[in-house]
Amino acid sequence: MKKTIAGGGARVAVLYTSVAAALEDVREELRESMDLALNAASVAGALVSGGFDAHPVAFGTDPAALCLALRGFDAVFNLSEGPLDCPQKEPHGAALLELLRLPYTGNGPAALSLCNDKPLAKSLIAGAGIATPRHRLYPSAPRGRCGLRFPVIVKPAREDGSSGITEASVVETEAAMRRQVGHVVDRFRQEALVEEFIGGREFNVAVIGNGTAADPHRALPPGELAYDDPRFRVCSYESKWDPEHPSYDAIRSVVPAKIPAPLRRRLQSSALACAGLFGLRGYSRVDFRLDADGAPNVLEINPNPDISPDAGMARAARGDGLSYPALIAEIVRLGVALGAR
Ligand SMILES: Nc1ncnc2c1ncn2[C@@H]1O[C@H](COP(=O)(O)OP(=O)(O)O)[C@@H](O)[C@H]1O
Ligand SMILES: [Mg+2]
Repeated sequence: MKKTIAGGGARVAVLYTSVAAALEDVREELRESMDLALNAASVAGALVSGGFDAHPVAFGTDPAALCLALRGFDAVFNLSEGPLDCPQKEPHGAALLELLRLPYTGNGPAALSLCNDKPLAKSLIAGAGIATPRHRLYPSAPRGRCGLRFPVIVKPAREDGSSGITEASVVETEAAMRRQVGHVVDRFRQEALVEEFIGGREFNVAVIGNGTAADPHRALPPGELAYDDPRFRVCSYESKWDPEHPSYDAIRSVVPAKIPAPLRRRLQSSALACAGLFGLRGYSRVDFRLDADGAPNVLEINPNPDISPDAGMARAARGDGLSYPALIAEIVRLGVALGAR
């Protein structure tokens, strides 16, 4: 497998999941978050402007048809998230590309699985001495006390895109926590993750690189999600996906974040420690909130973060001198440098 392809007409498939290609009874809250057709068009456009021969390819419900559709491509820009309407199947796209021996962008199936299992990822993060909110995991509403410091936030253990997270997820009492756990377990058919609520400023740090000698991890300048309105304390599902909801405009994305250099370095070094711990490849984003002492706590690692032109990652890259087409081309280069995985 050749290890470099530059523009020069290399054929790149931009693989994406879309509502149009989804099963009929897709859960309502997955609809918007799953529709990556627009992102795929942006990525393909950026690649074409860089001299690649790029084409969006939808990840539908027929894996055999997908294998045929991917024939003749030199590499795949992997935007697929939760094929077959299932966020827990996010690693399967990357796994399929490995079986097809196609170089692809971004993280491999192991990192995608690990990071999407929030409780497991948090245990590894805490075990490595990196701060993350203390948590409990419940398969059903507990009888006793959780023993955490209140308020706590109750979220599904294995979802994404703030699915299952509203302002009501933050609760002040043990009784409210038990009710919310029951609600999450019923609604999402999975365990509920109960975490101490960390109420300080919220930041995210994009990491680019393969963690190899040739392409070490590099942290971009942090971005901030600024909460201007005291009614809103979390980046909820509505704040991300519902333009009609008042929180949609009330939580501002500030990139790069206006913070002193020591805090920037602290966030970046914690993000790089996570990247090393999980063996991240290509591009990823680590989300943080500051605790009462001003220390960054890792909320989660996103191994397949939003790469659309107006997302925080692209804006952080721009602030660092990388235009959108240059960022997208760099991500392809990093994927190809790993060869067939
Ligand atoms: N322990 C926590 N303390 C404070 N806010 C939290 C905590 N966990 C989640 N949040 C809020 O909820 C949002 C979504 O949570 P997150 O765990 O990142 O889920 P998702 O994978 O759906 O993005 C975060 O961006 C943050 O605003
Ligand atoms: Mg998140």
